[in-house]
Amino acid sequence: MVMAEGFTDEGKIWYNGAFVDWKEAKVHVLVHGLHYGSGVFEGIRCYATEKGSFIFRLREHVDRFYRSAQSYKMEIPYAKDVIEESIKATIRINGLDACYIRPIAFYGYHHLGLNPIGCPVDCVIAVWPWSAYLGEEASEGGIRCTFSTWRRIDPSTLPITAKATGHYLNSILASLDAKERGFDEAILLDTKGYVAEGPGENIFAVKNATLYTPEARSSVLPGITKASIIELARDMGYKVVEKRITKAELLDADEAFFTGTAAEMAPIREIDNVLIGGGKKGEVTSVLQRKFFDVLNAREEKYMKWLAPV
Ligand SMILES: Cc1ncc(COP(=O)(O)O)c(C=O)c1O
Repeated sequence: MVMAEGFTDEGKIWYNGAFVDWKEAKVHVLVHGLHYGSGVFEGIRCYATEKGSFIFRLREHVDRFYRSAQSYKMEIPYAKDVIEESIKATIRINGLDACYIRPIAFYGYHHLGLNPIGCPVDCVIAVWPWSAYLGEEASEGGIRCTFSTWRRIDPSTLPITAKATGHYLNSILASLDAKERGFDEAILLDTKGYVAEGPGENIFAVKNATLYTPEARSSVLPGITKASIIELARDMGYKVVEKRITKAELLDADEAFFTGTAAEMAPIREIDNVLIGGGKKGEVTSVLQRKFFDVLNAREEKYMKWLAPV
């Protein structure tokens, strides 16, 4: 089998407090998390810059990791500082200067009753090289999206602000559906029909140089990239409005783009064959993207507070 980008039989994975060989980082087939999706995780990136390797918003990601765990009454058996230091140590031991970072905690091997209490909480940190999730060309040329036939899971059904493994079945369906119909990515509406987000990205629309993004109480994950883009945009003098966005408003936008750790910042050039902003990356998207990449590359003194040295 050909291995996916960055996956390797070499390297080490941090597993419940110790490093194990990549190939040996295994679970029992009866772990609770495997059967019921009772796990929480994070996606974080480390960037190689002229000033060294830096992890983007490490503390915020670790905070969300713990908040997600709390939603499922899961106690991560390590202090936040230990997780942060272990993330850095995992990068160092694998000799990487830029990588994607995947911490995950899940209810482990003990019983398979639905109430997970009593199962141990297993905790893993893996790192590997992973380029922009939607492809390098996406950040320039933009991507083709479709409104998904699947609605985004509703906050009355699951605590959608948690980044929990089981929630991603919704994202998987949306992603499969979009790919099957020949699009790069899906856009999910919430159960009321308003724009929510991508399967693994938050979404922004730009109209008359104002940025719009679905408000926090919509069915969206509170994205750390989203929060960063909002802060950058406001600091640059743009107005940012968080509100409910209709399908029609998104289709009528001058520009639209996705944000997320994996996708970074990806312009949307088309939705269901309707061109957005003439099908090209727009002015506001370009300006913000340049700024964001400067921040990630440690070229913006003001935002060095967002970068944790490895
Ligand atoms: C469903 C979903 N929405 C949005 C995002 C973007 O969040 P972040 O910018 O924190 O990566 C992600 C990725 O984590 C996601 O999985």
